[in-house]
Amino acid sequence: MSGVNEIRSTFLNYFKKNGHEIVASSPLVPRNDPTLMFTNAGMVQFKNVFTGVEQRPYSRATTSQKCVRAGGKHNDLDNVGYTARHHTFFEMLGNFSFGDYFKEEAISLAWNLITREFGLSKDKLTVTVYHTDDAAFDLWKKVAGLPEERIIRIATSDNFWAMGDTGPCGPCSEIFYDHGDSIWGGPPGSPDEDGDRFIEIWNLVFMQFEQVTKEQRVDLPRPSIDTGMGLERLAAVLQGKHDNYDIDLFQTLIHASEEATGVKAEGQFRASHRVIADHLRSSSFLIADGVLPSNEGRGYVLRRIMRRAMRHAQLLGAKDPLMYRLLPALVREMGQAYPELIRAESLISETLKLEETRFRKTLERGLGLLGEATETLGEGDSLDGETAFKLYDTFGFPLDLTQDALRQRGISVDTEGFSAAMERQKAEARAHWSGSGDAATETIWFAVRDKVGATEFLGYETEKAEGVITALVRDGALVDSAGEGDAVSIVVNQTPFYAESGGQQGDTGTISGDGFTVSITDTQKKNDGVFVHIGTVTKGTAKKDAPVELSVDHVRRTRIRSNHSATHLLHEALRETLGTHVAQKGSLVAPDRLRFDFSHPKPISDKELAVIEDLANEIVLQNAPVTTRLMAVDDAIAEGAMALFGEKYGDEVRVVSMGTALHGEKAGKSYSTELCGGTHVRATGDIGLIRVVSEGAVAAGVRRLEALTGEAARRYLEEQDERVKAIAGVLKSTPAETLARVSALMDERRKLERELTEARKQLALAGPSSGGAQSETVNGVTFIGKVVSGVNPRDLKPLADDAKKTVGSGVVTFIGVSDDGKASAVVGVTDDLVGKYSAVDLVRIASAALGGAGGGGRPDMAQAGGPDGSRAEEAVSAVREALAG
Ligand code: ALA
Repeated sequence: MSGVNEIRSTFLNYFKKNGHEIVASSPLVPRNDPTLMFTNAGMVQFKNVFTGVEQRPYSRATTSQKCVRAGGKHNDLDNVGYTARHHTFFEMLGNFSFGDYFKEEAISLAWNLITREFGLSKDKLTVTVYHTDDAAFDLWKKVAGLPEERIIRIATSDNFWAMGDTGPCGPCSEIFYDHGDSIWGGPPGSPDEDGDRFIEIWNLVFMQFEQVTKEQRVDLPRPSIDTGMGLERLAAVLQGKHDNYDIDLFQTLIHASEEATGVKAEGQFRASHRVIADHLRSSSFLIADGVLPSNEGRGYVLRRIMRRAMRHAQLLGAKDPLMYRLLPALVREMGQAYPELIRAESLISETLKLEETRFRKTLERGLGLLGEATETLGEGDSLDGETAFKLYDTFGFPLDLTQDALRQRGISVDTEGFSAAMERQKAEARAHWSGSGDAATETIWFAVRDKVGATEFLGYETEKAEGVITALVRDGALVDSAGEGDAVSIVVNQTPFYAESGGQQGDTGTISGDGFTVSITDTQKKNDGVFVHIGTVTKGTAKKDAPVELSVDHVRRTRIRSNHSATHLLHEALRETLGTHVAQKGSLVAPDRLRFDFSHPKPISDKELAVIEDLANEIVLQNAPVTTRLMAVDDAIAEGAMALFGEKYGDEVRVVSMGTALHGEKAGKSYSTELCGGTHVRATGDIGLIRVVSEGAVAAGVRRLEALTGEAARRYLEEQDERVKAIAGVLKSTPAETLARVSALMDERRKLERELTEARKQLALAGPSSGGAQSETVNGVTFIGKVVSGVNPRDLKPLADDAKKTVGSGVVTFIGVSDDGKASAVVGVTDDLVGKYSAVDLVRIASAALGGAGGGGRPDMAQAGGPDGSRAEEAVSAVREALAG
């Protein structure tokens, strides 16, 4: 008997031997399909390869694809636990030909695998073909040697496989296994076909067409092959079981829950164990692929699955959270084939535990209410919608949980009444809200939120995704289309674009659809999770409901990631260096730089800055992975996560941790742990380098750092380096010697300045023969009046003092003209003349001549300025005239 792991690898290796590339399963959240909630078939990741839009380096591939069928079109949730073959999570084994081989080889490869490698008896196998597909009919006869009565023609859509309303499609051929006459049922196409005896195990799709719109179907560029075989069904057949839950993998999980609860797997609680085993798989794989429980979209489907399992855990009498305790068994069974499970193990464990801890708080009371409300009800009755809604709204019971809880008693739920109660609550919220008087465009976002719900954010995992335009706004109004040149705001059902928040700027990029492109320059979040892409239509006409491809500007986003993670590291380095009073007061995470404001009472010294930079870069060099967990706010804070004071957080928060502390009390523990919804690098090494470029004050007690990372930091340092080299060039020295050379030059310059001042003074005072100051006699008083240039205004006074000494008795005036054309005047009066003339009055006269006003000093020495140096000579004359009387 082969175990599931062996069967999976036998399948993949068989196709590898036959020239196929083994391709890893794509994530459960499809990147390339706007309408699909979860990946539900192996071909999903190859959709664009079939249509020729995308090229791969191989034309044959094989995969074991993770699939979830819950929520959306394919929803098996309600049946899980009660039937032999329904799962929310399953693995689809497949082989694919992209224009390589077609029907004959596909049939022959499949037949050979199941009859030779897996050794299934030909007598147990029956196949179907599409009723018009004579070629497939003949090939089954030829290749497999099957008698005609076991090649059944089917005319329904069962044998024409389509991914959805649009996309690649074609006739298909299914292989059925006969579990024997101990089980009721007939072959496909017979009146008893719904029985459980003949089970479809493999579907071979002959991909020939692409459904472009509902009406239009075109040929694919090259006929191709897509096959899908449920691993769990195949394992059941190979292990001689009829029920998928009896295969080794499920038995291990069921055994784990049996052990943990002490409740027997068979008997009264059979369904509960099965629900738990199945839901543990889907929940864990969804969390590993980035889905976290929420009240909307994919996150809500996950929450429904988790809570449904948690009610069954409660039925089994589990006193404490159960699901996370079963996770190690799952990781042991499936971690090797899906390493993402190992990588995300702690995230999955914490998320399961948190959800179960929280839900248990209301579960008991909700079940109490449900018990009371259904006390008088019996089989065939229906629970009123109001109560179901109250259970949903107050106790967190998803509708399907309530339905599941009543299932065994044969009681249904009035789903219409439930929807009506939900609608009424929304209407009340709307009425309440519109009374708050916000602007008209904001009203639009409320309406959009109401109609299309919150946007599903995919940007933690991917920068490219497909989506459908759910709202288009131009000039503040909802429109159906917008043409080239129009400024628009676009809402898409899901997006990789990060909307500005927590200081991190919104993403830019492009949104393009059939014949149109919109250049997105900003993304903002409105009304409770509606992501609004703001931009301009650069080509064609953007239309509401159009499927689109969204592509974030990768380079810009990469820089933003680095700057955001660096902000966290600097924050911690600041606290480590300056003290824990450092608290974030604001931040800006842009592509070209980061800015971080924080509380600290005084400037940071250069020495401290150097330490802060060193500490942060130490963690960069650790190249430690950045981890994100979802936690209850209180738990996160208890764990030491830094939160912003006064910030409103939901009940659950993302907690981002990076690095291992190397010093102090925290040594060996996580270096930085913060509540944060932003996007970060995968490992700290991606930051490259952190360089603080400025430090300053923004307000009393608040300082600001600006820093660069990665390429920007490197370029900044390069520019500094270039500058030093250029300086060295001018100095004709080496960069290492520039400091000594510049210091020497500065000393020399100071010395020369002193000498120059002295020389000018001497020159100004020297006699007429040397072009110096000349004295004259005005009104019987000795007068020296002179215009000097190049003398510093502050040297004018000493000049006047010297001149006063030289004349012994008299009045001296010097007008200095500076390089920028301004003038300053000084007047000195020797002591014997102070009673007669006032230096202050005289300097004011000089100042007036220079276009100025005022001046001040003492009667024996006063100084003034004036804007107009060209009138210096006039100022001298004015003083002379004043003396003349
Ligand atoms: N895509 C095909 C299926 O899902 C193989 O059945």
